[in-house]
Amino acid sequence: ELKARMGVAAGTLDVVAITTAEYFVPHLLAEFGRRHPDITFRLAVENRERVRTLLQEQRCDVAIMGQPPRGIDLRRIPFAPHRLSFVARPDHRLAGRKRIPPAALTDERLLLREQGSGTRDNLERFLRAHGVKPLAADELGSNETLKQAVMAGMGIAFLSHHTFAMEVESGRLVRLDVADTPVIREWNVVSRTDRPMTPALDALLEFLQTEGAARMRAMER
Ligand code: PGA
Repeated sequence: ELKARMGVAAGTLDVVAITTAEYFVPHLLAEFGRRHPDITFRLAVENRERVRTLLQEQRCDVAIMGQPPRGIDLRRIPFAPHRLSFVARPDHRLAGRKRIPPAALTDERLLLREQGSGTRDNLERFLRAHGVKPLAADELGSNETLKQAVMAGMGIAFLSHHTFAMEVESGRLVRLDVADTPVIREWNVVSRTDRPMTPALDALLEFLQTEGAARMRAMER
């Protein structure tokens, strides 16, 4: 259409966010949308397996995720740091302790995300790196369920900071000061190298690259 031919960013962008990214992607799209009112979105929130399939089958313009899947030709633009930490209920015995050694987690019941989750993967790497084998572990299917289970006193969880900001602020959860945390990874915007570049897609990549990090910081306040 005319606008697209003239280089004005317009049209619909198909964005897929990995589950944890649902806590911030709407905020980024809201700001981007204010600058590009002619662009609309279809936003899907999916687990890693589905994100991989959508990329593989050319069914999205971009994916917002941590570690990109292997085996697909992708371009990856890191746009913001991603912090992950252990959280507990405020009355937990480790709450408020300074510099908890990771070995102290051995006596804890850990609540885990499902297999394949990036959060789960990061937790397992942390435990392996510190030689920690927790007393018991339960697998729960979502960030929201993990938070509810921690609040119910079932155990402690390892979660993205994006997911627990509100609960920490309201005093329902506390971040545990475990040594070597937060674990810091990165958020990426990922798209297939053979995806045709459109003005709308170009504008989104440019926005995330130049302003994504600052927008994410602003959200944390
Ligand atoms: P998750 O992924 O929501 O599956 O844990 C987060 C990530 O990609 O790092």
